[in-house]
Amino acid sequence: MAENLFIPNSTNKDHIYEAILPQIFELWEHEEDTIANLANTAAVIKQAFGHLWIGFYFLKSNELVLGPFQGPLACSRIPLHKGVCGKAASEKKTIIVPNVHEFPGHISCSSLSNSEIVVPICLSNQKLFGVLDIDSIHFNHFDEKDAIYLEKLCKFIGEKSIFYF
Ligand code: SME
Repeated sequence: MAENLFIPNSTNKDHIYEAILPQIFELWEHEEDTIANLANTAAVIKQAFGHLWIGFYFLKSNELVLGPFQGPLACSRIPLHKGVCGKAASEKKTIIVPNVHEFPGHISCSSLSNSEIVVPICLSNQKLFGVLDIDSIHFNHFDEKDAIYLEKLCKFIGEKSIFYF
């Protein structure tokens, strides 16, 4: 339950991910609605790390459409050939961008964003469901550790999500 969310008072990424991932998995066990679960997943990550923006885009008719998120107003639609999200989605691979200003084709939703990580989410049949996108105000904020934990999370989400669009 959200009121019982435990977030360690630590700046160590491992400690934070190790504490929040089981709690996110638990949330999904108690609710069957994918949108409700993605909304709460975004809330937990935002609360745990304080990132500028964290949210989901869904693949709908060959473009990415904004889903549940936490943070400032964001672009509603991203073509598959554009931006960090489009690249991660079309290549089905995690992309870490240490400096978004140097990424060709980066789509800027907030001038405060300086680094970004995007992780694809595939359903159990390997079809692309969407992406998880996180933006930070800090340069070089995401690394291989984030990729490992977030890929674990996205694998879980892909196995649990229902594609009903
Ligand atoms: N920067 C992303 C667009 C989405 S926002 O960051 C929320 C991109 O280049 O795909």
